[in-house]
Amino acid sequence: MSSSKYIQYHGLLLPSAAHSMESLEFAQNFSVEDSDVFAVTYPKSGTIWMQEILPLLLNGGDLTPIHTIPNWDRAPWLEETRLAVVVDQLPSPRALVSHLPYHLMPPSFLASKAKVIYVMRNPKDVVVSSYYFHQMAGFLHDPGTFEEFMEKFLEGRVLFGKWTDHVKSWKHTELGDRIMYITYEEMVQDLPAALRRMSDFLGRNLSEEVIQKIAENCSFKTMKTNTMSNFSLIPKGLMDDNKSPFLRKGVVGDWKNHFTSEQLTRFKSVISKELENESFSLPWSLD
Ligand code: A3P
Repeated sequence: MSSSKYIQYHGLLLPSAAHSMESLEFAQNFSVEDSDVFAVTYPKSGTIWMQEILPLLLNGGDLTPIHTIPNWDRAPWLEETRLAVVVDQLPSPRALVSHLPYHLMPPSFLASKAKVIYVMRNPKDVVVSSYYFHQMAGFLHDPGTFEEFMEKFLEGRVLFGKWTDHVKSWKHTELGDRIMYITYEEMVQDLPAALRRMSDFLGRNLSEEVIQKIAENCSFKTMKTNTMSNFSLIPKGLMDDNKSPFLRKGVVGDWKNHFTSEQLTRFKSVISKELENESFSLPWSLD
């Protein structure tokens, strides 16, 4: 499985196009500030959506960052090579994103008061989104058939490992009120309400007007036409939106168009088994 397209980090596969041993060391030694805000996700759960939302929540709705800075620079990934390049240009409070499991977060994060918004998405839609992402991203392995890709996903032979491990790690933290959980589905259902929850958690006192403005500018439709957010600045060899756009469908339940009933049974049984002794339950039914 591992080839030059991926590096291994504590048993996890990470794409070498954006990660290196140096960037991971940089992340480990990163000085997290108390005012930093992280959006943490398992890949394909709404990361770039949060790169749109967080800077606007933190700056009171000033649209300049989403109109002038590509998403990967305005809320960089903690673990990626770009962070070292742009870190000095980040306004305070800083917005960052990460796919790291909790136990691989840097010591300074644990010692800080930095807040985390953990976004979870129904894994049935995550695997579908990831399947198309692997088709369009030239820096990832071809996913093969959906059936083959689902097996890899269930075994954790995909980016950042098993979905269940990621969720478990972030459900068991000592972060107390420094962490807030939200689902992609909640955001799709009522974005203004989701933004209100996030803004309250971050201690921002945003008016209803500002919340509405952020919601409009972070909608799927608006992001799809924003060159700073739709990855059209990336060469086609790395991301080919003729194969599948990064901002693909942005809906809940696309798994229904992809899973056979056998696949659904297998998927449910693997995921439920891995979570059977957990003290938390999932916010959606796996049926
Ligand atoms: P789909 O492939 O199902 O469309 P990530 O950023 O973590 O890689 O997640 C990508 C997924 O989030 C894609 O899902 C993408 O379309 C979706 N997404 C991004 N911005 C969104 C928005 N504003 N509204 C709804 N979905 C969004």
